[in-house]
Amino acid sequence: MAEQQQRGAVLVTGATGGIGAATVRALATRGFTVYAGARSATSLFKGVTGVRVVTLELSDSASIAAAAKQIAGEVKGLHAVVNNAGVIVQGPLELVPAEEWRRQFEVNTLGPATVIREFLPLIRSGAGRIVNVSAPTGQVAMPLLSALSASKAGLDSLSDALRLELAAWKIPVSVVVPGSTATAIFDKAGAAAKEAQSQAEQDRVRLYRAHLEAYEKANARFKPGPVEKVAETIARAVEARRPKRRYLVGDARSLSILTKLPAGLRDRVVAQALGLNRITPEARWPARRPWYSSAPPPALAGTRPVNSLAKVIGCSWSAVIPTAPPTWLANSPPRPSSPRTPL
Ligand SMILES: NC(=O)c1ccc[n+]([C@@H]2O[C@H](COP(=O)([O-])OP(=O)(O)OC[C@H]3O[C@@H](n4cnc5c(N)ncnc54)[C@H](OP(=O)(O)O)[C@@H]3O)[C@@H](O)[C@H]2O)c1
Repeated sequence: MAEQQQRGAVLVTGATGGIGAATVRALATRGFTVYAGARSATSLFKGVTGVRVVTLELSDSASIAAAAKQIAGEVKGLHAVVNNAGVIVQGPLELVPAEEWRRQFEVNTLGPATVIREFLPLIRSGAGRIVNVSAPTGQVAMPLLSALSASKAGLDSLSDALRLELAAWKIPVSVVVPGSTATAIFDKAGAAAKEAQSQAEQDRVRLYRAHLEAYEKANARFKPGPVEKVAETIARAVEARRPKRRYLVGDARSLSILTKLPAGLRDRVVAQALGLNRITPEARWPARRPWYSSAPPPALAGTRPVNSLAKVIGCSWSAVIPTAPPTWLANSPPRPSSPRTPL
């Protein structure tokens, strides 16, 4: 215990999950007193020396303030705060409900900002540091992960600003970027997306069938690494005399190469890697366009603006506003109608 007090106390949020739980153990093994943030009571660390569970719900600022008050009553300062808790909200933007977008930002971006605000007095008095756990999507945005990408880009940006803001007190701010890691986060995200899509307009869900299939296939190719590797890196950031700004773990390293590419090329590489470039126009086209199935052309057909546009691009108005499916669509084979597992 004396050794633990010498090394100081660390708060880890999201301690009940894969990377968080492994980080708590890695830090406790190194002799830190670890406050393991959990949404509800857990026996996960029963018998692990130096670990104290603290209730922490990131979407509730009162819960964060209460945790800060509790810890302030027990220690003089913190050696580090590790903002690890996170969720993935996945799916095409069109199919992600507003409350899911809110949850994404509450846990991944606003929660860490509130934790930092509430714990800064303890970090300052403990000559401590901040370690934020981000994701490769923070730098390379991924289609069908717009909510996650935006939330992690926000966390990255917040970390960069904070590093300069807190330099006067010599409070280092590091970002740890794990690559694909074997945890339950993907199953949880899949279940939430499935639920959201079952509530969405089914015509809209059908529009994205090929995208969702391609995404699933691409995901299956990833070989998630072990949580321990990420936990070791977080522990390095907590222990280092001069912590780095950014730590990349596993395939986050290779993904970071994408940030060096010109935007257009990067878009093509990402689309190709996810198989989105192979999606047939049929899938991108609404399944039933009213003027395709029932003959009458749309009201704009043959009107002056359409005729003028047709003249400029040198074709007839029916090429601008088609009254029948284009040949590539008419001739393409029907898509299989078997039910698919949504993301
Ligand atoms: N796994 C990967 O491949 C990967 C890759 C890159 C980055 N990351 C990042 O690594 C971090 C940890 O992810 P993980 O893979 O270990 O996920 P995980 O196993 O699902 O663990 C996530 C943790 O966050 C907690 N959490 C979720 N919502 C919360 C809320 N509202 N308030 C407080 N805590 C909440 C969870 O608590 P409950 O158990 O109560 O839900 C859990 O303890 C996340 O920031 C994630 O974005 C993971």
